[in-house]
Amino acid sequence: MNKDRILVTGGVGYIGSHTVVELQKAGYPVVIIDNLSNSNRDVLDGIERITGIRPDFVEADCTDMEALKALFAKYPDIRGIINFAASKAVGESVQKPILYYRNNLNTLMNLLDLMPTHGVKGIVFSSSCTVYGEPDVNPVTEQSPIKTATSPYGNTKQICEEIITDVIRSGAPIKSVILRYFNPVGAHPSAEIGELPNGVPQNLLPYLTQTAIGIRKELSVFGDDYNTPDGSCIRDYIDVVDLAKAHVIAVERMLTEKSESSIEIFNLGTGNGLSVLQLINAFESATGVKVPHKIVGRREGDIEKVWANPAHANNVLGWTADTPIEDTMRNAWAWQLKLRERGIM
Ligand code: UFG
Repeated sequence: MNKDRILVTGGVGYIGSHTVVELQKAGYPVVIIDNLSNSNRDVLDGIERITGIRPDFVEADCTDMEALKALFAKYPDIRGIINFAASKAVGESVQKPILYYRNNLNTLMNLLDLMPTHGVKGIVFSSSCTVYGEPDVNPVTEQSPIKTATSPYGNTKQICEEIITDVIRSGAPIKSVILRYFNPVGAHPSAEIGELPNGVPQNLLPYLTQTAIGIRKELSVFGDDYNTPDGSCIRDYIDVVDLAKAHVIAVERMLTEKSESSIEIFNLGTGNGLSVLQLINAFESATGVKVPHKIVGRREGDIEKVWANPAHANNVLGWTADTPIEDTMRNAWAWQLKLRERGIM
């Protein structure tokens, strides 16, 4: 049986591109909409090399209602949406709050608005463990309290979750699966796609691999005086391919009426917390490559420790993040080497 077409907003980006690969491998026809604001169209070549299929691609901005209407007119067979299109840099969001609220909220509202009239049954939304702030207890479950957001970026995730809830409560004939990601890392094992940060990376792993290859002199470890075993912050690093696979399961649930309710929320993490220093060690032992690093002061706004209880996703979705961290580190390194080989950086 032919599968329904999925619209992937932001499908040229980091998590989006890995998800397009898994959707295509599972037999879903895909159309991507992306404004390429933080990505490069060469990613489409990488997706095609991995899957043998070039996804349909529309270069447009999801805040542009007319462009979205034209897309739905051109692809009347879209039945599901995965919404990755969003601005995502915490620091930038503090500097440019209106940009963040405009991009992230308008994108979601436009999609929700158009779904019922175009026969789209469900939307998977990319949320974040940022909604839990600094948790009182780890690991966090989906019932852990939502904390006041500490950045406009984090606030957009909370508000978007509320918008989805309100729209579905109002009786809109749609479903949603909200996925709260912990810290996505790594790259596709083929090294055809991976993370490609613009400028100086803000996130740990791209900074680490760029240091290992010599683009950056030294990795700064932000703080070793936290209340953790080695003093550095703890996160739940989840392999991006594991994460991508969860989206395929979520889409399947929405489209085949398996969902238990119109809105479902899942934490996507491994259940294991790793400190910054442990992650550096994991990289060094997996690749044999040393990472020059030094301890510096804390980064403002950092959470001390957060990791997931993924039991709900494990039990209900039948999904686990099972890629060993060493494999994830080797894939991230292979991707960094590939970028060098291609002369990208
Ligand atoms: N870190 C360093 N040095 C660096 C970069 C990061 O020590 O150069 C540390 C941070 O202090 C933190 C850990 O590495 O302890 C992870 O930092 P990231 O910036 O990679 O990730 P965050 O957990 O801070 O942020 C991520 C996403 C956000 C999201 C947040 C939710 O990037 O989008 O998780 O908690 F909001």
